[in-house]
Amino acid sequence: MTKGRHLEQRRGVWLGMGLVTGLLAGLTWLHRERARRSSPLLRRAEVQSGKSLTALVTGASSGIGQAYATKLAAMGYNPILVARRKDRLDSLASDLTDIYGVRVSVVPVDLATDAGIAAVEQAIASTDDLGILVNNAGFGMYGPFARGDINRHLDMIRLHVLAVVRLTRAALPGMLARRRGIVINVSSLIAFYPIYGSTTYTATKCYLRSFTEALHQELAGTGVRAQSLCPGFVRTEFQECADIQSLAIPDGLCMSAQDVVAGSLRDLAADRPISVPGPVYRFLATLSAVLPRPVIYLAGRVIARQRGK
Ligand SMILES: NC(=O)c1ccc[n+]([C@@H]2O[C@H](COP(=O)([O-])OP(=O)(O)OC[C@H]3O[C@@H](n4cnc5c(N)ncnc54)[C@H](OP(=O)(O)O)[C@@H]3O)[C@@H](O)[C@H]2O)c1
Repeated sequence: MTKGRHLEQRRGVWLGMGLVTGLLAGLTWLHRERARRSSPLLRRAEVQSGKSLTALVTGASSGIGQAYATKLAAMGYNPILVARRKDRLDSLASDLTDIYGVRVSVVPVDLATDAGIAAVEQAIASTDDLGILVNNAGFGMYGPFARGDINRHLDMIRLHVLAVVRLTRAALPGMLARRRGIVINVSSLIAFYPIYGSTTYTATKCYLRSFTEALHQELAGTGVRAQSLCPGFVRTEFQECADIQSLAIPDGLCMSAQDVVAGSLRDLAADRPISVPGPVYRFLATLSAVLPRPVIYLAGRVIARQRGK
């Protein structure tokens, strides 16, 4: 083969690859534009004209859930607040009504119980304009599985997995019929890092990430979207409950719940199925795909030693 012919062939291959990449980029852009146009988040005019939608947020009594409820109320959504602590929900409801003039209802239930999940399914069934469902309620737990309280692990599976699956299933038929709606399932950066001491937590958050990413694909072109939010460290009551204050996380690495919610909403507008707010955490999520597993395991052991567990 002559040198000229060889060069010509290589140019052809590069041109072909360029065309395929351009085509794929174009198709992705078109797909995102279609999803964006049917997003209730962008229907500001509708919200301003008083035809506002409902947003159901679980775990709204503190932290990230409270930040979602507040942001969505500020955007004109009528929130339904779910968590166990009724006094907290009532106080937030009265603040949101006073400040934003929205209609707020509260459902004080334990989502780790069958009755609690059924009560929220019922609330969804009696809402004919559910625009957003945020499955955020959750708690952390750390320590060797073999010595842990099995009931806590089972509660975590019920809260992080069963409740989310049932509420998502309850919300989708109405959203699909209206051809609009958003489901946000709060996972965690740890879904990318299965480490020592957080067996059930990592596994449930991994479930949420995979479930939601697959759902996002199933919903393509329907006007309904799903996002899995995977935050890194966020300063909330979570650290106390999960007993991880001892980790001495530098302030620069901790995000505020408000910034995490802003990142999630930005990623929704860009139709990203997985949202990892914050550049450091986005880098860590990307890194997890190429990092050798032994390095991840070693990091887990170092953290465990630091915490004396
Ligand atoms: N903070 C972080 O660093 C971080 C990082 C990654 C992911 N996350 C995830 O973000 C989500 C929110 O956590 P957060 O940081 O905002 O923590 P948080 O301040 O402790 O809030 C947790 C919320 O979940 C509710 N909740 C807990 N158990 C519940 C149950 N059985 N039934 C109903 N509601 C329940 C709590 O309300 P009641 O106690 O009133 O029921 C509270 O409103 C969780 O899913 C967590 O896994 C947090």
